[in-house]
Amino acid sequence: MASDQSEEKYLLDPDLGQLPDLRNSKGHGFRCFKHDGVYLLVPPPFMLKGGHPTDRIKSIKEAELKDDDVIILAYPKCGTHWLWEVLEMLKSGTIKYQKDVKETRMMEFIFKDGIEAVQHPRVFNTHLPLRMLPTQVVEKKVKCIQIMRNPKDACVSFFNHSRDLSEPYGYDGDFAEFTEAFLSGKMPFGSYSSYLLAWKAEVAASPELPVLYMFYEDMKIDPVKAVKDIAKFLKLTSTDQFCEEVAAACSFKKMKKVDQEMKGDLPLKIWKDGAEGTFYRKGEIGDWKNWFTVAENERFDQIWNEKMKDSGFEFTYTAV
Ligand code: A3P
Repeated sequence: MASDQSEEKYLLDPDLGQLPDLRNSKGHGFRCFKHDGVYLLVPPPFMLKGGHPTDRIKSIKEAELKDDDVIILAYPKCGTHWLWEVLEMLKSGTIKYQKDVKETRMMEFIFKDGIEAVQHPRVFNTHLPLRMLPTQVVEKKVKCIQIMRNPKDACVSFFNHSRDLSEPYGYDGDFAEFTEAFLSGKMPFGSYSSYLLAWKAEVAASPELPVLYMFYEDMKIDPVKAVKDIAKFLKLTSTDQFCEEVAAACSFKKMKKVDQEMKGDLPLKIWKDGAEGTFYRKGEIGDWKNWFTVAENERFDQIWNEKMKDSGFEFTYTAV
C-alpha cells in the first residue's frame, strides 16, 4: 500500500491536519490521527468513501441500533474474534461458523452506514471508548460485553499482530520498543490502562447500561461456564448441551482451522507479504513469559500498577 500514490497523497493531505508524531528515537512508530483524545489508525481511502477520517468516526454516534443488538467491547488482542464467534452461534441458535470476518461488524471499520446495513441478529465489536459509540447504545440500553485480558499477553499479541501488518500500518520496532509504546499509549487506541480507566469512568456515568465483564483467561480456563454466563446475560434459552457445543466449536484449534479453510477475505490486505499474520497465533495464557526479560517485566509491573492502582481490575497472568 505504501507504493500506492493516492494513499501516500492522502496520508499527507493537509486537510487531515498534522498527524501526531508517534515515532520513537529510532524512528519506529505508528501513523495515527487523533480524535477525541484517542489515536486511531488512518483508514485507507476505500473505507472513507471520500470522507474525512474524523467525520467518518463521528458518524458512528448517529448510527441507528436495534434493541437486541449486542456489542463486544475490547482493547485489541483481548479475544474479540473468539467472543464474536461464540455470540454469533448463541444468537442464531446454530453451530455454524460465520463466513464473514468479524471486521465486517467492527464499528470503526464500517461506520454509520455499514452499522445500519448489518442484517439481524447483529453482534458488533469495537475498540472505541463508549463516548464514540452510537448514542443509542446508552439510550436503548444495548447489551455490551467487555472482554479483558492480562495486559502482558495482550501486549505480546498486539506486538505480533502489528509487526505482521502491511505498510503503512506495520510496526518496525522490536518488542522492547513496542512495550514502551504500549505503556505510554503512543499507538492505535492508546494504552490499555487508559482504555480500561476510560471505560470504567464512562460506564459509571451510565449506570443503566447493561455490561457483562469477562476475562479471556476465565474463558480459556472454563469455556463452557463462559458461554453459559453469556447466554444468561443475553436472556437466551440456550440449553446446557448447546452451550457445551458452542464452547467446543469455538476452541482455538477449531477456530484456527475454520479461519484457514472457510473464512472470507478481509475487506483489505492487512498482512505483510511473507509474514505469518494471523488472528489465531497461540491462544494461550502466559505466553508473555517467553517475551519479557526480568527487567522488562519489573518495569512493566511498576508502570502498570502505578496507573491502575485503586482501579479494581485484577488479571490472571499464569495458566493454572
Ligand atoms: P495470541 O496472539 O496470544 O495467540 P483478537 O481477536 O481480539 O484480535 O485477539 C486475538 C488473540 O486471541 C490471539 O492471541 C488469538 O490467538 C486469541 N484467540 C483467538 N481465538 C481464540 C480461541 N478460540 N481461544 C483462545 N484464544 C483465541
